[in-house]
Amino acid sequence: MKLLSYTIIGAFLLISCSGDSEEDLQDVPDNGGMPVSEVPLTFEKDISTLIEGRCSKCHGTTPRFGAPASAIFVTFDQVNANADRMLARMSNGTMPPASEGALSASFISAFEQWIDDGKLEK
Ligand code: HEC
Repeated sequence: MKLLSYTIIGAFLLISCSGDSEEDLQDVPDNGGMPVSEVPLTFEKDISTLIEGRCSKCHGTTPRFGAPASAIFVTFDQVNANADRMLARMSNGTMPPASEGALSASFISAFEQWIDDGKLEK
């Protein structure tokens, strides 16, 4: 009789444990099975707000504060076409102008990562 109850308790523990691990698996976000750090960055999700925050004051639809008309960085097509020039000026620390405050290293590495990921729109 004792043996039977141990067996029942054991089976119960086994069932509840395997139930737990299934719940844990369901908590992992569904990103096609890729580790989170390898999810590609996209213009719409990751890049447009960065550019808007630090570049659009001068490189908006109407260029301002001396920014050339050839340097409008608002839409995906504009940023896509100018990405290498933009990265070069970010990396050498000449954009934005010093008076605007330096970019964070994570800003520049996100932009670089987006280029490496193939400059995805969305
Ligand atoms: C306060 C205004 C201002 C901000 C903010 C600013 N820029 Fe500029 N940008 C300028 C001006 C003025 C020029 C033209 C003079 C020069 O090339 O240094 C310029 C030129 C450039 C050029 C060269 C364009 C060409 O035709 O050769 C690039 C690339 C550039 N900026 C990228 C950026 C990026 C990327 C950001 C945001 C991270 C940014 N800028 C933020 C004012 C700004």
